[in-house]
Amino acid sequence: MERIFTKIEEIALKIDNLIKTAEGGYSESSNSTGDTQLKLDIQSDEIIEKVLKELPEIKAIISEEKEDILELNSDAQYTVCYDPLDGSSIVDYNLSVGSIFGIYENGLDGASLKASVYIVYGPRVEMIKTVRGSKPKHYRLINNKFILQSEIILNSHGTLNAPGGTQKNWYPHHKELIDLFFKDGYRLRYSGGMVPDLHQVLLKGGGLFSYPGTTDKPKGKLRALFEVIPFALAFIEAGGEAIDNRGISLLEFKPSHPHDTTPCFFGSKDEIKRVKEAYSGKE
Ligand code: AHG
Ligand code: MN
Ligand code: MN
Repeated sequence: MERIFTKIEEIALKIDNLIKTAEGGYSESSNSTGDTQLKLDIQSDEIIEKVLKELPEIKAIISEEKEDILELNSDAQYTVCYDPLDGSSIVDYNLSVGSIFGIYENGLDGASLKASVYIVYGPRVEMIKTVRGSKPKHYRLINNKFILQSEIILNSHGTLNAPGGTQKNWYPHHKELIDLFFKDGYRLRYSGGMVPDLHQVLLKGGGLFSYPGTTDKPKGKLRALFEVIPFALAFIEAGGEAIDNRGISLLEFKPSHPHDTTPCFFGSKDEIKRVKEAYSGKE
């Protein structure tokens, strides 16, 4: 897996450079979820495909920006699922964005995820790498090299609340839960990019990031293989939890299609306990 990590670092440098130099705006195509693709979404996807194709240990790649699985080496070990550029709706306004990778073996579900990596392209470029069974590692790009900063350990109780989804479409039990966190003093931290929003919750010791099912999107918006399951590994290995609306660990989630979405809640243990109580017997 080390060679995959090295390639992901190479990709991160290229995408960071692309974001800083390429023109903005939309392309004329849309992806499998129906989102109109930015030129940057397509170019980032091309960079990743080209670099990952160099590795014989990769069986297939699955991208948020590609309809189908791209088979590379049929006898190889790993399938890499990725969101090339997370934050399409905010990158042209110069907010932080990211790339997310899940490295799967022998299956495409939570149980088969062996490692995940995400990169935040912000005022600094940072990378969080999580290998199953060990604490997430936090790296920062310094002089074009990713330098290890620390391991990430979540407190059992946090202070931040990052509530996703369109509020007018929240279910009443979800609204009540979010309101209660604010009444208890939690502070709103939400940019509209799951990578920086989850990164902040992870690095500041904890809290809650939620992207629930809503009346218009009962299965939420965030995609299991490229977005949700990779972050679930980071939160769980950091000592927190990541669950769906039924209270089930997202590392047990089994998508039936590569582009499936799921409601998701990531946080420290105390906040997730409250989510489970609020959602008990609900959608
Ligand atoms: P992408 O740019 O890969 O399509 O994903 C963006 C995601 C995620 O970063 C964020 O939390 C969520 O979309 C926000 O979407 P809405 O603003 O539509 O709620
Ligand atoms: Mn995304
Ligand atoms: Mn994306």
